[in-house]
Amino acid sequence: MSNDPLVIFTPSGKRGRFPVGTPILTAARQLGVDLDSVCGGRGICSKCQITPSCGEFPKHGVTVADTALSGWNAVEERYDQKRGLPKGRRLGCQATVQGDVVIDVPPESQVHRQVVRKRAEVREITLNPTIRLACVEVEQPDMHKPTGDLERLRAALRAATGQDSIGFDRHLLRDLQPTLRKGNWQVTAALHQPRDDADPSVVALWPGFFEGPLYGLAVDLGSTTIAGHLCNLSTGEVVASAGLMNPQIRFGEDLMSRVSYAMMNKGGDLEMTDAVRAGLNQLVTDITAEAGADRSAILDTVFVMNPVMHHLFLGIDPFELGQAPFALATSDALSLMARDLGLSIAPGTRAYILPCIAGHVGADAAGVALSEAPDQSEDLVLVVDVGTNAEILLGDKRGVLACSSPTGPAFEGAQISAGQRAAPGAIERVEIDPVTKEPRFRVIGSDLWSDDDGFDAAIAATGVTGICGSGIIEVIAEMRMAGLVDASGLIGSAEQTGSLRCFADGRTHSYRLWDGSADHGPITVTNGDIRAIQMAKAALYSGARLLMDKRGVNKVDRVVLAGAFGAHISAKHAMVLGMIPDCPLDKVTSAGNAAGTGARIALLNRSARDQIETLVGRIEKIETAVEPRFQEHFVNASALPNASDPFAILRSVVDLPDPSFNTGGGDSGAGGRRRRRRG
Ligand code: FES
Repeated sequence: MSNDPLVIFTPSGKRGRFPVGTPILTAARQLGVDLDSVCGGRGICSKCQITPSCGEFPKHGVTVADTALSGWNAVEERYDQKRGLPKGRRLGCQATVQGDVVIDVPPESQVHRQVVRKRAEVREITLNPTIRLACVEVEQPDMHKPTGDLERLRAALRAATGQDSIGFDRHLLRDLQPTLRKGNWQVTAALHQPRDDADPSVVALWPGFFEGPLYGLAVDLGSTTIAGHLCNLSTGEVVASAGLMNPQIRFGEDLMSRVSYAMMNKGGDLEMTDAVRAGLNQLVTDITAEAGADRSAILDTVFVMNPVMHHLFLGIDPFELGQAPFALATSDALSLMARDLGLSIAPGTRAYILPCIAGHVGADAAGVALSEAPDQSEDLVLVVDVGTNAEILLGDKRGVLACSSPTGPAFEGAQISAGQRAAPGAIERVEIDPVTKEPRFRVIGSDLWSDDDGFDAAIAATGVTGICGSGIIEVIAEMRMAGLVDASGLIGSAEQTGSLRCFADGRTHSYRLWDGSADHGPITVTNGDIRAIQMAKAALYSGARLLMDKRGVNKVDRVVLAGAFGAHISAKHAMVLGMIPDCPLDKVTSAGNAAGTGARIALLNRSARDQIETLVGRIEKIETAVEPRFQEHFVNASALPNASDPFAILRSVVDLPDPSFNTGGGDSGAGGRRRRRRG
């Protein structure tokens, strides 16, 4: 065995023997330790910071003397004076091995560090972006060795990165010579490497040493809203988030009306392409202003969206998506130049669009799949992205199925008599006392319930303006639990329900949720509202049920509600309505904007792009429109919660009366129950 000193790196545990005088950065590279370097070991970038430890390390079987590393040198001294090195830190490219040593690589010096995600139950993101910086010294021109400046730059980058072949964006050629001379033959290149095994290309160039920051933009391009996260590509941190309404709304609220607009108006598709691209440029303006960042520092972008938005963003007529067999122009992931998508960022900025799963299941569902990873789940998980079109995934390690279901806009408050978008003043939470049938509610913008002291003062500015999507689900579920609505979705009369809040409204009955004020009339729930929600939730459930049929199961282990709306739905109320299959309430979780999270993962970790492309190729797609059992499931799922599925787990924890107002029968089942606790 060699007598060379032993170098042990933590947290990786990698170890090896190296001759005295070996720089720690060299040892790290030879062992494959994740230690960053932009300047190639010239003491400029400080990315290679390490923390040496002294003393006894029985676990590693070494004793480390305080002379285990070379002394503090002039380069470190200069760096410390100019920029400051944290106490205990050394520059890995300057400190050399003198004896056995244990070296800790702090997270900020790791290229592939973990980015912490907020939810505890999900995996962390490994940082492995497509963009890296490399600062190199370029050989100066020599009349005796006539080579071009670009060729010498490439040679320097090949030596610094160990890559055999380095591409170079043509748009940089014009400024190459002044940049090299301005930097006195030192330049920093931004290298874009789309895959671990792809050749990198220079996409931006700065004279001298440039340390960023550089940014990436992850965008969830929804039909109603466009949401973006601006991320620092070297830390993974989200530095700003912004959202705006999709300007295409003026061509139609929902996707099919936009497809119709394109069909009925020559050039209408391109008008919508221009509108969405203008919206994205506005998003870039807003988000960079919020972060105090320069838009030219955004060098990578990732997009997720549904198939219609996908086509309109790319400038493709969505005509074929409006009719069977719903053929996509392309379903593969796309790697493009952002400028070719009309985005004014930097000329070399790249754009990656996740693959679409099927004609109705888009790149947004692929983003959800990347974020929630049903393919890596031990238990069978149903992931539902609730929007105007529900996109549904069912799977585990054995395989994943996907479909979409046309839920329509009812869950967003459209088609509801008092419905409105989630905005201050909208009723978002509702409770109905099962004995007195009296409601109380909360509106967006106040934490007080309507029967709390001070409620009127708290909502004086906004008033009570309507019911948003989560509010309508709660109120109908509460009405069902209080015996005001029967299993068929019929609201009972005052006599049948024992509540004067139920009143005849044409041929059916309505329920008065709020008596109104001087400025605003009463807010009621009509039987038409309940029908609209029944249709939407039956479509959602039937899609999920079809996937369960394909998988040969009658139950799922857990349910994940994704989408901004999913974040606000209460699991209990969703299940009382039969929106989702019966399962323990504590197994229903919300993933928030999982599609946007998927975009962020693909932005920060280029390996995730391979993962999702492989997974999408393996997902079994189910087209609900041609499945004979869809209609049967739909009819059963129109009941509250369901005509054929007993929802036994739900009924074991929730008192669910089963009157039928049509036959005039039934005890409401609510009598004698106590008022539920608040909150
Ligand atoms: S590698 Fe740049 S300072 Fe050490």
